[in-house]
Amino acid sequence: MKKIYPLILASIVISCIFTGCDKLRGRAYAPETPMDSTLVIYYSQNGATRAVAEELRFQLGCDIAEVKPVRPYNGDYDATVARMEDELQYGGVIDMEYPDIDYAKYKTIFIGTPIWGGKCSLPIYSLINEHYWVGKKIFTFCTYGSGGLDSMTRQVADTQKDCTIICGFGIENDSICNAPEIIHRYLDESL
Ligand SMILES: Cc1cc2nc3c(=O)[nH]c(=O)nc-3n(C[C@H](O)[C@H](O)[C@H](O)COP(=O)(O)O)c2cc1C
Repeated sequence: MKKIYPLILASIVISCIFTGCDKLRGRAYAPETPMDSTLVIYYSQNGATRAVAEELRFQLGCDIAEVKPVRPYNGDYDATVARMEDELQYGGVIDMEYPDIDYAKYKTIFIGTPIWGGKCSLPIYSLINEHYWVGKKIFTFCTYGSGGLDSMTRQVADTQKDCTIICGFGIENDSICNAPEIIHRYLDESL
């Protein structure tokens, strides 16, 4: 019997994790009116920001685009920090694979990034340094271990001086499963 307890515990934990994250696929917040003139653009190394961006896209009923470095980061924390520090020494802009986007179509852009070293991830740093948008409303969002929304928003504001920048929302790794509710509340209060 003793051997069964760990199995039962493990299955409860696993089912709780999946039940919680099922909400991400639950489609509870379908948009009333799709927002054709809005774009969600993001980078994600390990999937957290992608999950949040996809949920945001769903709730807004808008387009989505993912940016990627030509040479992907391999997901290992130490290797990513070492490469990031190296690339920052050379201006921080790396070779990127940008999707072909007609930005003129969009009035509003949501930019999403994981926080790296308290700031934008290098791929998003590259995106905002290699594009200059005019007259857009830009919302920021991010995922993180503990914080970084304000400083990544400042980086966006510093590079996009002819846009209206709105500090959006950040979601901690521990709360990714609650993203649908967090996003719904944010959009309800902010749009
Ligand atoms: C290189 C690196 C640096 C990070 N630096 C921070 C940080 O300064 N502050 C923080 O709260 N989280 C930090 N994190 C945690 C990530 O922001 C967090 O895990 C994020 O949700 C990952 O998103 P992703 O799965 O979309 O890649 C860091 C992660 C990596 C890989």
